[in-house]
Amino acid sequence: MDVKTALLERRTIRKFTQTPILEQDLTDLIEYARLAAYPANLQPLKFAIITENELCNKVFDNTKWAGYLPDGTPKEAERPTAFIAVLGDTEIKNSFEVEAGAAVTSMMLGALEKGIGSCWIGALNKKNIMEALELDEEKYNLLYVLALGYPAQESQACPMQDNNVKYFLDENNKLNVPKRSMNEVLLFKK
Ligand SMILES: Cc1cc2nc3c(=O)[nH]c(=O)nc-3n(C[C@H](O)[C@H](O)[C@H](O)COP(=O)(O)O)c2cc1C
Repeated sequence: MDVKTALLERRTIRKFTQTPILEQDLTDLIEYARLAAYPANLQPLKFAIITENELCNKVFDNTKWAGYLPDGTPKEAERPTAFIAVLGDTEIKNSFEVEAGAAVTSMMLGALEKGIGSCWIGALNKKNIMEALELDEEKYNLLYVLALGYPAQESQACPMQDNNVKYFLDENNKLNVPKRSMNEVLLFKK
């Protein structure tokens, strides 16, 4: 898949089939995150792959989904089959937003190429998830989880109307994600 196609086709997926993802594919995603660009090359992020059913359920129970949709939380048979937890190592630095952006973007695009759908989740009960993961809360700062699974939903970008940023389901149950126009985002060329 070429980069342009990947950027056009990557959309957040929130409904998944229950086919498990191969462990090697999940490890590949960490490899893509490992190779991302990081300020001062500090590479302060750590990752945890979660596929065990019980642990996936614990993580899922501490996430929130699709704030703009009335019924956007995946049903039991639509849940992600894996999560990748993205953590900041406070022994390396103390702020991680830029790093998380680079890492998660790389993983989402890598997942797309493998046919795997993803949803970047920031609405988390971090404390509960850290307890479930049994990681040292002094050392690691949970930033995000990336929910993963084979897509059971279609999603596409659409032109934004009237400044309305809310994604919506169309008559075919396809998710539509409004994107601002080129005219709006490109201030000038000179
Ligand atoms: C930092 C960040 C946090 C997000 N947190 C959530 C979340 O908690 N739950 C959710 O359903 N989607 C979450 N999303 C997904 C966004 O809603 C989604 O990226 C946005 O609607 C644009 O859709 P697209 O990814 O298909 O372009 C998050 C995205 C980002 C970048």
